[in-house]
Amino acid sequence: MGFSTDCIHAGNAPDPLTGAVSVPIYQTSTYVQEALGKHKGYEYARTQNPTRAALEENMAVLEGGAGAKAFASGMAAITAVSTFVKAGEHVVCSNMTYGGTHRYYTKIQARSGVEFSFVDTSDEEIVRREFRPNTRLLHLESPTNPTMTLCDIALLSQIAHERGALVVVDNTFASPYLQKPLDLGADLVIHSTTKFLNGHSDSIGGIAVAKSQEHVDWLGFVQNGAGAILSPLDSWLVLRGIKTLAVRMERHESNGREIARFLAAQPKIEKIYYPGLPDYPQRALAEKQMRGFGAMISFDLGSYEAAGRLLGAVKLCSLGESLGGVETLISHPATMTHASIDEADRNRLGVTPGLVRISVGIEDVEDLIADLERALAAV
Ligand SMILES: Cc1ncc(COP(=O)(O)O)c(C=O)c1O
Repeated sequence: MGFSTDCIHAGNAPDPLTGAVSVPIYQTSTYVQEALGKHKGYEYARTQNPTRAALEENMAVLEGGAGAKAFASGMAAITAVSTFVKAGEHVVCSNMTYGGTHRYYTKIQARSGVEFSFVDTSDEEIVRREFRPNTRLLHLESPTNPTMTLCDIALLSQIAHERGALVVVDNTFASPYLQKPLDLGADLVIHSTTKFLNGHSDSIGGIAVAKSQEHVDWLGFVQNGAGAILSPLDSWLVLRGIKTLAVRMERHESNGREIARFLAAQPKIEKIYYPGLPDYPQRALAEKQMRGFGAMISFDLGSYEAAGRLLGAVKLCSLGESLGGVETLISHPATMTHASIDEADRNRLGVTPGLVRISVGIEDVEDLIADLERALAAV
């Protein structure tokens, strides 16, 4: 089926009991069994829940995987994938991931004896050099947060596989509408479903999709064994959000392009990061591996004070962390999403005090541009 059809129908079979067109929220902790060892495939709700299973089936189809497992947050999905790596093994990770990913790897997983290299994954030679005999996982995020740097998923997957490592791609910024990492060669995809998949800023969740059944089975074992499951209500909210993913992404995308064009023409903006701009250095790669450029834009106003004046003056764009909702959110990565990274490292990565990130929503684009125009006048 086409992508929009799958968004609506994959995993969303009518309820067998009533025919309800919307998958019910199975808000139950356990299931009555008919006799010893005789049940309907459901024993305990940490292990199996039909609402969660519907979302997992839906996402497995959208990402083209053998299966998916849903977790309590994007970070819980990343934590689950990190269990593919054992003490004494090594991970090569993009140096510009979501700050929380870096924090989890360096401050939590490193305590268990896992080694890490954080490198510029937009440079294949650097990535190649970083592999060691004990490298087990290559963690990619493309586009990266917040500087919209891309990496060549197909090429890096080939490099990793030749060296016996698995490849996981955080596809949160793109969503499967814009990019399908498993088709490009990755083994695993993770999402913070909190973002574009749910799309309405009313749920925290995460999901991991695997290409092979063996990896799905392990993720299911971790989901049950470690217990960071997505709740039935949150599973339902994400499943409902995904039904409109294709139409929302079309609008996010067209608004994103227009706003990037507007921002690129503003003299007060020193630098703008958006893969869809004609002079964006990685535009060709974006065209090769994505089916659009998305709705995430960052721009540098040159100083903390200038960024503060803009963020204080916007009215329609809401100042807040997170992204991917129907409403436009604007944020300051250095003090918000990336505050856990050392200042020197932040500056080196382009997460400067003047950097502002915008997650373009699906409002009328003229209203958004008017709001930004007014706020820029205050800078
Ligand atoms: C790219 C990316 N991955 C993962 C996460 C973590 O997701 P969550 O906040 O749902 O735990 C985020 C959160 O902002 C993110 O932006």
